[in-house]
Amino acid sequence: MRQSSLVVVANRLPLDDSAARDGACEWRRSPGGLSGALHAILQQTPATWVGWDGETGLARVTDIGSVRLRPVTLSAAEQAGYYEGFANSTLWPLYHDAVQQPVFQREWWETYRSVNQRFAEAAAEVAGKHAAVWVQDYHLQLVPRMLRELRPDLLIGFFMHVPFPPPELFMQLPRRIELLRGMLGADLVGFQREQAAHNLAQLAQKLLGADATDDAITIDGRTVRTGAFPVSIDVAEMRTLATRPDVVAQVKQLHHDLGESKRVLVSVDRLDYTKGIEHRLTAYRELLRDGHVKVRDTVLVQVAVPSRERVESYRDLRDRIEGEVGRINGEYGRVGEPAIHYLNQPFSRSELAALYQTADVMVVTPLRDGMNLVAKEFVAAREDGAGALVLSEFAGAADELSGAFLVNPHDVDDLKQTLMRALEASPEDLAARMTAMRRHLAEHDILAWARAYLTELDHTGRLARRFIGRA
Ligand code: ADP
Ligand code: G6P
Repeated sequence: MRQSSLVVVANRLPLDDSAARDGACEWRRSPGGLSGALHAILQQTPATWVGWDGETGLARVTDIGSVRLRPVTLSAAEQAGYYEGFANSTLWPLYHDAVQQPVFQREWWETYRSVNQRFAEAAAEVAGKHAAVWVQDYHLQLVPRMLRELRPDLLIGFFMHVPFPPPELFMQLPRRIELLRGMLGADLVGFQREQAAHNLAQLAQKLLGADATDDAITIDGRTVRTGAFPVSIDVAEMRTLATRPDVVAQVKQLHHDLGESKRVLVSVDRLDYTKGIEHRLTAYRELLRDGHVKVRDTVLVQVAVPSRERVESYRDLRDRIEGEVGRINGEYGRVGEPAIHYLNQPFSRSELAALYQTADVMVVTPLRDGMNLVAKEFVAAREDGAGALVLSEFAGAADELSGAFLVNPHDVDDLKQTLMRALEASPEDLAARMTAMRRHLAEHDILAWARAYLTELDHTGRLARRFIGRA
């Protein structure tokens, strides 16, 4: 296999099954922030992407543009222990404030460890001499150290897309020392928010006795740099989509289908318990009950794309959400006029761009979220400068999108009041808020993120110039 000077290692290859099945192998990304973010920067980059070929395995894996794909295949037992088990039933809930009880099953650990070893070996095989290897997310937290042992010549980056919890929570983890040491095998550990780097420093001091500040941790005679690099989106792609004639026509059609005079609230999430969908539905039901909104003049569109359906808590969540949507529609809907349109299906990028533009209020209210790219996509799509964003304080995006109506989604009364404030805001207020957010995004797009991270990784800007250009 050809070796590359940049290797990305992520749990998933950025393809979804249906795209690969028909053999077309266009770059169709799977839903989820990580894949979307990296998709934007790698299209023109001579790199190799090491990743799992998905639940059902891809029919065919070829290179996409200049990116070479190196699939890692997992057995059913490995999927259960590594992906559904340790990654998504232990680490994911714990890292998201334990909003769902984390499950610790001892036998998952060995599978998580051995799958991480396999990813490290695959990366070692495709990385050229002194290459940069950029490891992504909580699935692969042991890979940086394993890779350093295999290939001390490499420059190793690690980026955590999800929150990194405070010591009180992290300390609950069985195998916490191995997990910490694993990520500290990197030269640079990047997070979405400053607080996460602070949490890591505290943990490194407490558990490893390391010398640690919020910028650097010294361990085994090496210095690991740390810092915040808030991830972003392909702003140019979303702006282009938003103005495409077929998308403009779709927006018109959506307004027509939803009711021309109706105020439209939109939410777009993976169907995940961190996204606060149930709290949002409760708030909406109470607004209907109290008569603050009426199906005659207002409608909610909730897109919830299926996710991790082999994990029991996700299946349970889906049942609860579908039950609640049914109850709300049963109680408040009228013939031809549901209170909520619920869509449990994947959307294309252009369909999403149209939906974002149809929203009077975009409701993004996760209980905890590393960043939340949906909020940024909504802002980028609003070429018209209109629309309100209701955004959870617990999403990383809240640090940047100062024009949003910030809300504590755990507080249903706050949710209700904030939704009403957004629905009733003046067009001038909304335009000023949107302008500020769009200005910020224009300068902080996905290329800026990758450039900032890679520049910090090699200190010279050489990597960033080579792979991202215009460094
Ligand atoms: P997470 O990474 O937890 O999934 P983000 O909001 O950061 O949350 O990213 C979600 C990504 O998935 C966004 O790029 C969004 O456009 C995409 N997405 C969300 N819902 C759908 C859907 N129904 N179909 C296709 N893509 C979706
Ligand atoms: C989040 C995680 C990603 C993950 C995505 C989709 O964005 O940070 O690593 O890929 O969710 O989840 P999935 O389990 O389908 O890959």
